[in-house]
Amino acid sequence: MEKIRIIGSHNLRLKGQVRISGAKNAVLPAIAATILTDEKVHLENVPLVKDVFTILTLMKELGADCHINRNSIFIRTKNICSDEASYELVRAMRASILVLGPLLARHGKAIVALPGGCAIGSRPIDLHIHGLEKLGASIKLEHGYINASAKKLHGAEIEFEKKTVGGTENLIMAASLTKGETILKNCSLEPEVTNLCELLIKMGAKIDGVGQETIRIKGVEELGRATHQIIPDRIEAGTFLIAGALTQGDITLTHIQPHHLDTLIEKLRYSGARIENLNPTTLRILGSEDIKPQDITTSPYPGFPTDMQAQFTVLMTQADGTSIITETIFDRRFSHINELLRLGANIEVSGDKAIVKGKSPLSGAEIIASDLRASASLILAGLIANGETTINDVEHLDRGYEKIEEKLKSLGAQIERLQG
Ligand code: UD1
Repeated sequence: MEKIRIIGSHNLRLKGQVRISGAKNAVLPAIAATILTDEKVHLENVPLVKDVFTILTLMKELGADCHINRNSIFIRTKNICSDEASYELVRAMRASILVLGPLLARHGKAIVALPGGCAIGSRPIDLHIHGLEKLGASIKLEHGYINASAKKLHGAEIEFEKKTVGGTENLIMAASLTKGETILKNCSLEPEVTNLCELLIKMGAKIDGVGQETIRIKGVEELGRATHQIIPDRIEAGTFLIAGALTQGDITLTHIQPHHLDTLIEKLRYSGARIENLNPTTLRILGSEDIKPQDITTSPYPGFPTDMQAQFTVLMTQADGTSIITETIFDRRFSHINELLRLGANIEVSGDKAIVKGKSPLSGAEIIASDLRASASLILAGLIANGETTINDVEHLDRGYEKIEEKLKSLGAQIERLQG
């Protein structure tokens, strides 16, 4: 198990420029979408993170040819030689479920392991399954696997009971190759869903209502080649914005889409940070000495992202006063809090709320990371905790952050990876 060691300080001031990578959550569905065509798809601005390598392993098992050249990948799934996503891969990355819709639509069958529980909550996939059944798939759950088949799918009207990013993506992909018209209601509005629709449209899909709650898809017989740019990672960008706010830093973030971060930026401004748009893809944050408490409630886009909850909680430990953090998306997403307590934070959890009382001087300690975004939050805390912090089990971090230690080092952090 690898560890990260940080020598932190209350007086750390992160300064400099950081290039934000492509979005993990946009590239995973884009890779799954390449199953829908037998032609080559070229994806640019791909973050080289562990989840990308996991889904590429899965794609190769399904029969795809995949080549990586720097941050570009070329995928061609001319023939499908397997229709199975094993438990081993799905357990490593739940987003493997994204191959279900494309496999069914192109190949007529798919066997995908059921994801089961996960560190941040129960995460069912019933909405993916109900949607695909409405398109005409026959789905059985047996021996821990989703066994799906369909002689022919047909268009349908499907309203998601609640917003689901992965469910929306799976259904859009399946409907793109499904005869007739499919109307999807209560779709997720996340920019990653829009980025997927843009790729599918380049491949020849007929999709109306991109970026809206109701999306209409007219199925086509086949999809073709495309070159597509993955959007910047708004969660990585948000993590660096918080690093700036937390350290009274002066950080310039490049290659981003600032409007994807509107809700977070508003909260950061209320909390005292100065944020300037230097140009359409560049933001500068200047942290303030006096951080003001802010309440947040996570909700689907454009609301406050659950993937930024842990990092924002760390910022609030340094605010003068009490903040209430409400988590509405996942039912166990407070695992970072026990670790923050070890560093000296004052936080009480009550149901879906964390009550953060600041300002607490943090001091370094040995802690453990339990999931991807929790790991990022612990790194942020380690930066401002006086002395040495060692974070165990940091593999989670590599699932979604490209070169995070290098990027933080270039801003002045003392951070290194230790082999376990
Ligand atoms: C995606 C993101 C993840 C983010 C999450 C919420 C990817 C690869 N991952 O995950 O980083 O934290 O969105 O923004 O894009 N639900 C059901 N039934 C379903 C599906 C979901 O009840 O069939 C529930 C979930 O348990 C959760 C909520 O809906 O409470 C939202 O989940 P969903 O949007 O589907 O998350 P993911 O797509 O898994």
